[in-house]
Amino acid sequence: MVLGEHDSSSPVEEQTANPDPQPVSDAPPARAAAAAEGDGEVESLARRIQEALAVGSRHRFWETQPVGQFKDARDGSLPEGPIEPPIPVSAVKQEPYNLPALYEWTTCDIDDDQTCAEVYNLLTNNYVEDDENMFRFNYSKEFLRWALRPPGYFKAWHIGVRVKATKKLVAFITGVPARIRVRDEVVRMAEVNFLCVHKKLRSKRLAPVMIKEVTRRVHLENIWQAAYTAGVVLPTPITTCRYWHRSLNPKKLIDVGFSRLGARMTMSRTIRLYKLPEATVTPGFRKMELRDVAAVTRLLRDYLSQFVVAPDFDENDVEHWLLPLENVVDSFVVESPETHEVTDFCSFYSLPSSILNNPNYSGLKAAYSYYNVAMRTPLLQLMNDALIVAKQKDYDVFNALDLMHNEVFLKELKFGPGDGQLHYYLYNYRLRSALQPSELGLVLL
Ligand SMILES: CC(C)(COP(=O)(O)OP(=O)(O)OC[C@H]1O[C@@H](n2cnc3c(N)ncnc32)[C@H](O)[C@@H]1OP(=O)(O)O)[C@@H](O)C(=O)NCCC(=O)NCCS
Repeated sequence: MVLGEHDSSSPVEEQTANPDPQPVSDAPPARAAAAAEGDGEVESLARRIQEALAVGSRHRFWETQPVGQFKDARDGSLPEGPIEPPIPVSAVKQEPYNLPALYEWTTCDIDDDQTCAEVYNLLTNNYVEDDENMFRFNYSKEFLRWALRPPGYFKAWHIGVRVKATKKLVAFITGVPARIRVRDEVVRMAEVNFLCVHKKLRSKRLAPVMIKEVTRRVHLENIWQAAYTAGVVLPTPITTCRYWHRSLNPKKLIDVGFSRLGARMTMSRTIRLYKLPEATVTPGFRKMELRDVAAVTRLLRDYLSQFVVAPDFDENDVEHWLLPLENVVDSFVVESPETHEVTDFCSFYSLPSSILNNPNYSGLKAAYSYYNVAMRTPLLQLMNDALIVAKQKDYDVFNALDLMHNEVFLKELKFGPGDGQLHYYLYNYRLRSALQPSELGLVLL
Protein backbone atom coordinates (compact mmCIF):
# COMPACT_ATOMS: atom_id res chain seq x y z
CA MET A 1 0.00 0.00 0.00
CA VAL A 2 1.19 3.48 -0.79
CA LEU A 3 1.45 5.29 2.48
CA GLY A 4 1.40 8.81 1.36
CA GLU A 5 0.67 12.43 1.98
CA HIS A 6 1.73 12.56 5.56
CA ASP A 7 1.32 16.10 6.75
CA SER A 8 4.31 16.84 8.92
CA SER A 9 2.50 19.72 10.58
CA SER A 10 -0.04 17.29 11.95
CA PRO A 11 0.20 16.47 15.64
CA VAL A 12 -0.23 12.86 14.73
CA GLU A 13 3.07 11.16 14.40
CA GLU A 14 1.68 8.40 12.31
CA GLN A 15 1.02 7.79 8.69
CA THR A 16 -2.30 6.36 7.78
CA ALA A 17 -3.19 4.30 4.80
CA ASN A 18 -6.28 4.59 2.74
CA PRO A 19 -9.39 2.61 3.64
CA ASP A 20 -11.48 4.10 0.85
CA PRO A 21 -9.16 3.03 -1.78
CA GLN A 22 -9.23 3.21 -5.50
CA PRO A 23 -10.29 0.67 -8.04
CA VAL A 24 -7.27 -1.26 -9.17
CA SER A 25 -8.01 -0.52 -12.75
CA ASP A 26 -7.49 3.20 -13.00
CA ALA A 27 -5.27 6.24 -12.52
CA PRO A 28 -2.78 6.08 -9.65
CA PRO A 29 -4.49 8.07 -6.91
CA ALA A 30 -1.40 8.72 -4.87
CA ARG A 31 0.14 10.66 -7.70
CA ALA A 32 -3.03 12.65 -8.27
CA ALA A 33 -3.12 13.46 -4.57
CA ALA A 34 0.48 14.64 -4.57
CA ALA A 35 -0.23 17.03 -7.42
CA ALA A 36 -3.24 18.51 -5.69
CA GLU A 37 -1.32 18.90 -2.44
CA GLY A 38 1.70 20.63 -3.86
CA ASP A 39 0.23 23.03 -6.36
CA GLY A 40 -3.31 23.68 -5.33
CA GLU A 41 -6.53 22.67 -6.96
CA VAL A 42 -6.44 25.05 -9.92
CA GLU A 43 -2.99 24.03 -11.12
CA SER A 44 -3.78 20.40 -10.62
CA LEU A 45 -7.00 20.75 -12.62
CA ALA A 46 -5.18 22.66 -15.36
CA ARG A 47 -2.63 19.91 -15.61
CA ARG A 48 -5.33 17.29 -15.83
CA ILE A 49 -6.97 19.23 -18.65
CA GLN A 50 -3.70 19.46 -20.54
CA GLU A 51 -3.08 15.77 -20.05
CA ALA A 52 -6.57 14.96 -21.25
CA LEU A 53 -6.14 17.07 -24.37
CA ALA A 54 -2.67 15.72 -25.07
CA VAL A 55 -3.74 12.12 -25.06
CA GLY A 56 -6.87 12.84 -27.05
CA SER A 57 -9.97 10.88 -26.13
CA ARG A 58 -9.08 9.80 -22.61
CA HIS A 59 -12.64 9.13 -21.57
CA ARG A 60 -14.28 7.40 -24.47
CA PHE A 61 -17.49 6.97 -22.48
CA TRP A 62 -17.64 10.00 -20.23
CA GLU A 63 -16.93 12.37 -23.10
CA THR A 64 -20.27 11.33 -24.60
CA GLN A 65 -22.20 12.11 -21.42
CA PRO A 66 -23.82 15.33 -20.19
CA VAL A 67 -21.21 16.04 -17.53
CA GLY A 68 -18.80 18.92 -17.13
CA GLN A 69 -15.98 18.22 -19.60
CA PHE A 70 -12.33 19.00 -18.82
CA LYS A 71 -12.04 21.15 -21.95
CA ASP A 72 -14.83 23.43 -20.64
CA ALA A 73 -13.52 23.74 -17.10
CA ARG A 74 -12.14 27.24 -17.60
CA ASP A 75 -15.04 28.51 -19.66
CA GLY A 76 -16.88 30.68 -17.16
CA SER A 77 -19.46 31.67 -19.77
CA LEU A 78 -21.23 28.32 -19.69
CA PRO A 79 -24.44 28.57 -17.68
CA GLU A 80 -24.86 26.88 -14.35
CA GLY A 81 -27.58 24.21 -14.15
CA PRO A 82 -28.79 21.30 -16.30
CA ILE A 83 -26.56 20.56 -19.27
CA GLU A 84 -29.32 18.88 -21.29
CA PRO A 85 -33.02 19.67 -20.87
CA PRO A 86 -35.42 16.87 -19.94
CA ILE A 87 -37.40 15.08 -22.63
CA PRO A 88 -40.91 13.64 -22.26
CA VAL A 89 -40.77 10.38 -20.30
CA SER A 90 -42.63 8.74 -23.19
CA ALA A 91 -39.62 9.52 -25.41
CA VAL A 92 -37.17 7.72 -23.10
CA LYS A 93 -35.86 4.46 -24.55
CA GLN A 94 -38.29 1.81 -23.30
CA GLU A 95 -36.07 -1.30 -23.63
CA PRO A 96 -32.90 -1.97 -21.64
CA TYR A 97 -29.51 -1.45 -23.27
CA ASN A 98 -27.95 -4.47 -24.94
CA LEU A 99 -25.55 -6.57 -22.91
CA PRO A 100 -22.98 -8.95 -24.38
CA ALA A 101 -24.83 -12.12 -25.45
CA LEU A 102 -23.86 -14.27 -22.45
CA TYR A 103 -25.39 -11.87 -19.90
CA GLU A 104 -28.82 -10.65 -18.86
CA TRP A 105 -30.26 -7.86 -16.72
CA THR A 106 -31.85 -8.61 -13.39
CA THR A 107 -33.61 -6.35 -10.92
CA CYS A 108 -32.27 -7.13 -7.47
CA ASP A 109 -34.95 -7.34 -4.79
CA ILE A 110 -32.82 -6.48 -1.78
CA ASP A 111 -35.71 -7.48 0.56
CA ASP A 112 -35.24 -11.03 -0.61
CA ASP A 113 -32.69 -12.82 1.59
CA GLN A 114 -31.17 -14.85 -1.21
CA THR A 115 -30.77 -11.86 -3.54
CA CYS A 116 -29.39 -9.74 -0.73
CA ALA A 117 -26.82 -12.47 -0.02
CA GLU A 118 -25.85 -12.61 -3.70
CA VAL A 119 -25.31 -8.84 -3.80
CA TYR A 120 -23.42 -8.96 -0.53
CA ASN A 121 -21.13 -11.73 -1.83
CA LEU A 122 -20.47 -9.95 -5.13
CA LEU A 123 -19.47 -6.76 -3.32
CA THR A 124 -17.55 -8.50 -0.54
CA ASN A 125 -15.36 -10.22 -3.12
CA ASN A 126 -15.17 -7.60 -5.87
CA TYR A 127 -15.87 -4.09 -4.57
CA VAL A 128 -13.41 -1.28 -3.81
CA GLU A 129 -9.89 -2.13 -2.68
CA ASP A 130 -6.96 0.07 -1.78
CA ASP A 131 -4.05 0.46 -4.17
CA GLU A 132 -2.09 -2.34 -2.61
CA ASN A 133 -5.00 -4.77 -2.30
CA MET A 134 -4.73 -5.05 1.47
CA PHE A 135 -8.32 -4.04 2.31
CA ARG A 136 -11.67 -4.33 0.61
CA PHE A 137 -14.94 -2.66 1.62
CA ASN A 138 -17.29 -5.09 3.31
CA TYR A 139 -20.70 -3.40 3.41
CA SER A 140 -23.01 -5.53 5.57
CA LYS A 141 -26.36 -6.84 4.35
CA GLU A 142 -28.18 -4.61 6.85
CA PHE A 143 -26.21 -1.65 5.55
CA LEU A 144 -27.13 -2.46 1.94
CA ARG A 145 -30.81 -2.72 2.85
CA TRP A 146 -30.61 0.64 4.61
CA ALA A 147 -28.66 2.33 1.83
CA LEU A 148 -30.97 1.07 -0.92
CA ARG A 149 -34.42 1.60 0.62
CA PRO A 150 -34.78 5.28 1.56
CA PRO A 151 -38.21 6.95 1.29
CA GLY A 152 -39.61 6.67 -2.23
CA TYR A 153 -36.92 4.25 -3.50
CA PHE A 154 -37.40 2.42 -6.79
CA LYS A 155 -36.75 -1.31 -6.94
CA ALA A 156 -36.01 -0.97 -10.64
CA TRP A 157 -32.94 1.11 -9.79
CA HIS A 158 -31.22 -1.83 -8.07
CA ILE A 159 -29.73 -3.38 -11.14
CA GLY A 160 -27.75 -6.57 -11.53
CA VAL A 161 -26.21 -8.49 -14.40
CA ARG A 162 -26.29 -12.29 -14.41
CA VAL A 163 -24.62 -14.93 -16.54
CA LYS A 164 -27.52 -16.32 -18.58
CA ALA A 165 -26.38 -19.93 -18.33
CA THR A 166 -25.68 -20.12 -14.58
CA LYS A 167 -27.63 -17.09 -13.25
CA LYS A 168 -24.52 -16.05 -11.33
CA LEU A 169 -24.61 -12.37 -10.35
CA VAL A 170 -21.56 -10.68 -11.87
CA ALA A 171 -22.25 -6.94 -11.85
CA PHE A 172 -24.27 -4.41 -9.90
CA ILE A 173 -25.20 -0.74 -9.87
CA THR A 174 -27.81 1.18 -7.89
CA GLY A 175 -29.59 4.47 -7.66
CA VAL A 176 -31.73 5.91 -4.89
CA PRO A 177 -33.80 9.08 -5.13
CA ALA A 178 -32.77 12.23 -3.28
CA ARG A 179 -33.52 15.92 -3.26
CA ILE A 180 -30.24 17.78 -3.47
CA ARG A 181 -29.99 21.53 -3.25
CA VAL A 182 -27.48 23.28 -5.48
CA ARG A 183 -27.24 26.92 -4.35
CA ASP A 184 -30.91 27.90 -4.04
CA GLU A 185 -32.41 25.27 -6.26
CA VAL A 186 -33.61 21.90 -4.97
CA VAL A 187 -33.07 19.30 -7.69
CA ARG A 188 -34.51 15.77 -7.76
CA MET A 189 -31.58 13.46 -8.30
CA ALA A 190 -30.49 9.87 -8.18
CA GLU A 191 -27.61 9.01 -5.91
CA VAL A 192 -25.74 6.35 -7.85
CA ASN A 193 -23.60 3.91 -5.91
CA PHE A 194 -22.28 0.34 -5.63
CA LEU A 195 -21.03 0.10 -9.21
CA CYS A 196 -19.22 -3.21 -9.28
CA VAL A 197 -18.09 -5.58 -12.01
CA HIS A 198 -16.77 -9.03 -11.09
CA LYS A 199 -12.97 -9.13 -11.19
CA LYS A 200 -12.99 -11.63 -14.04
CA LEU A 201 -15.08 -9.32 -16.23
CA ARG A 202 -13.09 -6.12 -15.89
CA SER A 203 -12.00 -3.85 -18.75
CA LYS A 204 -14.68 -5.14 -21.09
CA ARG A 205 -16.61 -1.84 -21.15
CA LEU A 206 -19.42 -3.30 -19.05
CA ALA A 207 -19.41 -0.31 -16.67
CA PRO A 208 -20.55 2.20 -19.34
CA VAL A 209 -23.53 -0.05 -20.23
CA MET A 210 -24.47 -0.30 -16.54
CA ILE A 211 -24.23 3.45 -16.10
CA LYS A 212 -26.38 4.03 -19.20
CA GLU A 213 -28.96 1.53 -17.97
CA VAL A 214 -29.30 3.06 -14.51
CA THR A 215 -29.53 6.47 -16.20
CA ARG A 216 -32.33 5.21 -18.45
CA ARG A 217 -34.29 3.87 -15.49
CA VAL A 218 -33.78 7.15 -13.63
CA HIS A 219 -35.07 9.04 -16.67
CA LEU A 220 -38.17 6.81 -16.68
CA GLU A 221 -39.03 8.38 -13.30
CA ASN A 222 -38.70 11.85 -14.83
CA ILE A 223 -35.45 12.48 -12.97
CA TRP A 224 -32.59 13.98 -15.00
CA GLN A 225 -29.73 14.59 -12.59
CA ALA A 226 -27.53 12.39 -10.42
CA ALA A 227 -24.85 12.67 -7.76
CA TYR A 228 -22.04 10.14 -7.30
CA THR A 229 -18.54 9.80 -5.93
CA ALA A 230 -15.49 7.89 -7.13
CA GLY A 231 -11.89 7.41 -6.18
CA VAL A 232 -10.93 7.91 -9.82
CA VAL A 233 -10.79 11.19 -11.71
CA LEU A 234 -13.56 11.44 -14.29
CA PRO A 235 -14.94 14.50 -16.11
CA THR A 236 -15.27 16.61 -13.92
CA PRO A 237 -15.28 16.64 -10.11
CA ILE A 238 -17.38 19.32 -8.42
CA THR A 239 -14.94 18.95 -5.56
CA THR A 240 -12.26 16.58 -4.29
CA CYS A 241 -12.17 15.56 -0.66
CA ARG A 242 -9.52 13.78 1.31
CA TYR A 243 -10.10 11.07 3.88
CA TRP A 244 -8.66 11.55 7.36
CA HIS A 245 -8.30 8.72 9.85
CA ARG A 246 -8.41 8.77 13.64
CA SER A 247 -6.87 5.66 15.17
CA LEU A 248 -8.97 4.13 17.93
CA ASN A 249 -7.13 0.83 18.08
CA PRO A 250 -3.63 1.85 16.96
CA LYS A 251 -1.97 -1.47 17.69
CA LYS A 252 -4.28 -3.38 15.38
CA LEU A 253 -4.10 -0.69 12.69
CA ILE A 254 -0.32 -0.95 12.73
CA ASP A 255 -0.34 -4.76 12.89
CA VAL A 256 -2.53 -5.00 9.79
CA GLY A 257 -0.58 -2.37 7.85
CA PHE A 258 -3.35 0.23 7.85
CA SER A 259 -1.03 2.70 9.54
CA ARG A 260 2.54 2.58 10.67
CA LEU A 261 4.46 3.56 13.71
CA GLY A 262 5.59 7.16 13.48
CA ALA A 263 9.22 8.11 13.54
CA ARG A 264 10.60 8.12 17.10
CA MET A 265 7.40 6.50 18.35
CA THR A 266 7.06 3.29 20.31
CA MET A 267 3.91 1.22 20.36
CA SER A 268 3.15 2.20 23.96
CA ARG A 269 3.61 5.92 23.24
CA THR A 270 1.34 5.54 20.23
CA ILE A 271 -1.32 3.80 22.29
CA ARG A 272 -1.11 6.57 24.87
CA LEU A 273 -1.34 9.25 22.16
CA TYR A 274 -4.68 7.89 20.96
CA LYS A 275 -6.17 7.03 24.34
CA LEU A 276 -9.64 8.44 24.91
CA PRO A 277 -11.72 8.98 28.06
CA GLU A 278 -13.98 6.08 29.05
CA ALA A 279 -17.16 8.17 28.99
CA THR A 280 -18.47 11.10 26.93
CA VAL A 281 -18.06 14.54 28.48
CA THR A 282 -20.98 16.61 27.15
CA PRO A 283 -23.89 16.76 29.64
CA GLY A 284 -27.07 15.50 27.93
CA PHE A 285 -25.20 13.56 25.21
CA ARG A 286 -27.39 10.54 24.38
CA LYS A 287 -28.46 8.26 21.56
CA MET A 288 -30.96 9.80 19.13
CA GLU A 289 -34.54 8.49 19.41
CA LEU A 290 -37.65 8.64 17.23
CA ARG A 291 -38.97 11.58 19.31
CA ASP A 292 -35.92 13.61 18.23
CA VAL A 293 -36.65 13.45 14.50
CA ALA A 294 -38.35 16.86 14.27
CA ALA A 295 -35.64 18.64 16.26
CA VAL A 296 -32.81 16.94 14.38
CA THR A 297 -34.46 17.81 11.06
CA ARG A 298 -34.63 21.48 12.09
CA LEU A 299 -30.99 21.49 13.24
CA LEU A 300 -29.81 19.75 10.11
CA ARG A 301 -31.81 21.84 7.64
CA ASP A 302 -30.55 25.00 9.25
CA TYR A 303 -26.95 23.80 9.27
CA LEU A 304 -26.92 22.42 5.71
CA SER A 305 -28.39 25.63 4.28
CA GLN A 306 -24.93 27.23 4.36
CA PHE A 307 -23.34 24.78 1.89
CA VAL A 308 -23.43 25.15 -1.89
CA VAL A 309 -24.44 21.51 -2.46
CA ALA A 310 -26.33 19.62 0.25
CA PRO A 311 -29.27 17.26 0.66
CA ASP A 312 -32.70 18.75 1.28
CA PHE A 313 -33.74 16.48 4.16
CA ASP A 314 -37.30 16.33 5.47
CA GLU A 315 -38.44 14.41 8.56
CA ASN A 316 -38.95 11.18 6.61
CA ASP A 317 -35.40 11.38 5.28
CA VAL A 318 -34.00 12.07 8.74
CA GLU A 319 -35.95 9.17 10.21
CA HIS A 320 -34.53 6.87 7.57
CA TRP A 321 -30.97 8.15 7.27
CA LEU A 322 -30.25 9.19 10.84
CA LEU A 323 -32.28 7.19 13.30
CA PRO A 324 -29.82 4.71 14.85
CA LEU A 325 -29.76 1.29 13.24
CA GLU A 326 -27.61 -1.34 14.95
CA ASN A 327 -24.23 -1.78 13.23
CA VAL A 328 -25.30 0.53 10.40
CA VAL A 329 -25.74 4.10 11.58
CA ASP A 330 -25.24 5.70 14.99
CA SER A 331 -26.62 9.10 15.91
CA PHE A 332 -26.44 11.12 19.08
CA VAL A 333 -28.06 14.30 20.28
CA VAL A 334 -27.21 16.69 23.03
CA GLU A 335 -30.36 17.39 25.05
CA SER A 336 -29.93 20.34 27.35
CA PRO A 337 -30.32 19.04 30.94
CA GLU A 338 -32.06 22.33 31.85
CA THR A 339 -34.39 23.11 28.95
CA HIS A 340 -34.56 19.65 27.33
CA GLU A 341 -33.99 21.34 24.02
CA VAL A 342 -31.96 19.34 21.46
CA THR A 343 -29.01 21.58 20.76
CA ASP A 344 -26.49 19.43 18.89
CA PHE A 345 -26.27 16.29 16.85
CA CYS A 346 -23.60 13.95 15.51
CA SER A 347 -23.60 10.68 13.57
CA PHE A 348 -21.44 8.09 11.91
CA TYR A 349 -22.07 5.03 9.78
CA SER A 350 -20.44 1.64 9.99
CA LEU A 351 -18.48 0.36 7.02
CA PRO A 352 -16.05 -2.44 7.81
CA SER A 353 -13.33 -3.58 5.45
CA SER A 354 -12.07 -7.10 4.93
CA ILE A 355 -8.39 -7.43 5.66
CA LEU A 356 -6.91 -9.48 2.85
CA ASN A 357 -4.16 -12.00 3.47
CA ASN A 358 -3.49 -11.31 7.13
CA PRO A 359 -2.95 -14.36 9.35
CA ASN A 360 -4.24 -12.68 12.52
CA TYR A 361 -7.10 -10.41 11.49
CA SER A 362 -9.91 -10.70 8.95
CA GLY A 363 -11.80 -7.45 9.41
CA LEU A 364 -11.32 -3.79 10.19
CA LYS A 365 -14.17 -2.03 11.98
CA ALA A 366 -14.44 1.51 10.62
CA ALA A 367 -16.82 4.32 11.57
CA TYR A 368 -17.38 7.09 9.00
CA SER A 369 -18.36 10.57 10.09
CA TYR A 370 -21.80 11.34 8.62
CA TYR A 371 -23.71 14.53 9.51
CA ASN A 372 -22.77 16.62 12.55
CA VAL A 373 -24.36 19.83 13.79
CA ALA A 374 -22.77 21.71 16.67
CA MET A 375 -25.00 24.61 17.73
CA ARG A 376 -24.33 24.92 21.46
CA THR A 377 -21.55 22.41 22.09
CA PRO A 378 -18.16 23.20 20.49
CA LEU A 379 -17.71 20.99 17.40
CA LEU A 380 -14.40 19.75 18.77
CA GLN A 381 -16.01 18.49 21.96
CA LEU A 382 -18.98 16.98 20.12
CA MET A 383 -16.70 15.06 17.79
CA ASN A 384 -14.49 13.97 20.65
CA ASP A 385 -17.60 12.46 22.22
CA ALA A 386 -18.34 10.76 18.88
CA LEU A 387 -14.82 9.27 19.00
CA ILE A 388 -15.42 8.10 22.56
CA VAL A 389 -18.65 6.25 21.69
CA ALA A 390 -17.02 4.78 18.57
CA LYS A 391 -14.23 3.47 20.78
CA GLN A 392 -16.80 2.09 23.27
CA LYS A 393 -18.42 0.28 20.34
CA ASP A 394 -15.09 -1.29 19.47
CA TYR A 395 -14.39 0.51 16.18
CA ASP A 396 -10.73 0.35 15.11
CA VAL A 397 -10.70 3.65 13.23
CA PHE A 398 -12.89 6.73 12.76
CA ASN A 399 -12.77 8.23 9.26
CA ALA A 400 -13.88 11.66 8.13
CA LEU A 401 -13.73 13.65 4.92
CA ASP A 402 -12.52 17.25 4.95
CA LEU A 403 -15.94 18.57 3.88
CA MET A 404 -18.45 20.78 5.73
CA HIS A 405 -16.69 22.13 8.87
CA ASN A 406 -14.64 19.00 9.49
CA GLU A 407 -11.32 20.84 9.06
CA VAL A 408 -12.03 22.49 12.39
CA PHE A 409 -11.53 19.26 14.32
CA LEU A 410 -9.41 16.93 12.16
CA LYS A 411 -5.90 17.87 13.25
CA GLU A 412 -6.91 18.83 16.75
CA LEU A 413 -8.53 15.45 17.39
CA LYS A 414 -5.49 13.57 16.02
CA PHE A 415 -6.86 12.52 12.68
CA GLY A 416 -4.09 11.92 10.15
CA PRO A 417 -4.48 12.54 6.41
CA GLY A 418 -4.86 9.38 4.35
CA ASP A 419 -3.78 8.86 0.79
CA GLY A 420 -7.35 8.40 -0.39
CA GLN A 421 -9.19 11.07 -2.29
CA LEU A 422 -12.86 11.06 -2.99
CA HIS A 423 -14.10 12.98 -6.01
CA TYR A 424 -17.71 14.20 -6.07
CA TYR A 425 -19.65 14.43 -9.34
CA LEU A 426 -22.99 15.64 -10.64
CA TYR A 427 -24.54 14.15 -13.77
CA ASN A 428 -26.25 16.57 -16.15
CA TYR A 429 -25.67 19.58 -13.92
CA ARG A 430 -22.91 22.11 -14.44
CA LEU A 431 -21.36 24.28 -11.77
CA ARG A 432 -19.53 27.45 -12.84
CA SER A 433 -16.42 26.30 -11.05
CA ALA A 434 -15.24 23.62 -8.68
CA LEU A 435 -16.08 23.95 -4.99
CA GLN A 436 -13.88 23.83 -1.94
CA PRO A 437 -14.56 20.69 0.12
CA SER A 438 -15.78 23.01 2.89
CA GLU A 439 -18.55 24.23 0.55
CA LEU A 440 -19.94 20.72 0.22
CA GLY A 441 -22.63 19.47 2.62
CA LEU A 442 -23.25 16.04 1.12
CA VAL A 443 -22.03 12.66 2.38
CA LEU A 444 -22.66 9.68 0.09
CA LEU A 445 -22.28 6.17 1.43
C1 LIG B 1 -15.47 0.42 -11.31
C2 LIG B 1 -15.62 -0.78 -12.22
C3 LIG B 1 -17.08 -1.22 -12.23
C4 LIG B 1 -15.24 -0.36 -13.63
O1 LIG B 1 -15.30 -1.48 -14.46
P1 LIG B 1 -14.08 -1.86 -15.43
O2 LIG B 1 -14.31 -3.22 -15.93
O3 LIG B 1 -12.82 -1.60 -14.68
O4 LIG B 1 -14.16 -0.79 -16.61
P2 LIG B 1 -14.97 -0.89 -17.99
O5 LIG B 1 -14.06 -1.38 -19.07
O6 LIG B 1 -16.24 -1.65 -17.83
O7 LIG B 1 -15.37 0.65 -18.24
C5 LIG B 1 -14.42 1.66 -18.29
C6 LIG B 1 -15.15 2.99 -18.21
O8 LIG B 1 -15.79 3.10 -16.95
C7 LIG B 1 -15.35 4.30 -16.30
N1 LIG B 1 -15.27 4.10 -14.86
C8 LIG B 1 -14.38 3.36 -14.18
N2 LIG B 1 -14.61 3.46 -12.86
C9 LIG B 1 -15.68 4.27 -12.72
C10 LIG B 1 -16.38 4.76 -11.61
N3 LIG B 1 -16.04 4.43 -10.36
N4 LIG B 1 -17.43 5.56 -11.82
C11 LIG B 1 -17.78 5.90 -13.06
N5 LIG B 1 -17.14 5.49 -14.18
C12 LIG B 1 -16.10 4.67 -13.99
C13 LIG B 1 -13.98 4.51 -16.87
O9 LIG B 1 -13.57 5.83 -16.69
C14 LIG B 1 -14.18 4.14 -18.33
O10 LIG B 1 -14.86 5.17 -19.04
P3 LIG B 1 -13.99 6.24 -19.91
O11 LIG B 1 -13.36 5.47 -21.02
O12 LIG B 1 -14.98 7.27 -20.35
O13 LIG B 1 -12.98 6.81 -18.97
C15 LIG B 1 -14.71 -1.97 -11.77
O14 LIG B 1 -13.36 -1.61 -11.93
C16 LIG B 1 -14.95 -2.37 -10.34
O15 LIG B 1 -15.91 -3.08 -10.04
N6 LIG B 1 -14.07 -1.92 -9.42
C17 LIG B 1 -14.17 -2.22 -8.02
C18 LIG B 1 -15.32 -1.48 -7.41
C19 LIG B 1 -15.27 0.02 -7.66
O16 LIG B 1 -14.23 0.62 -7.63
N7 LIG B 1 -16.44 0.61 -7.87
C20 LIG B 1 -16.58 2.03 -8.07
C21 LIG B 1 -16.77 2.68 -6.77
S1 LIG B 1 -16.83 4.44 -7.00
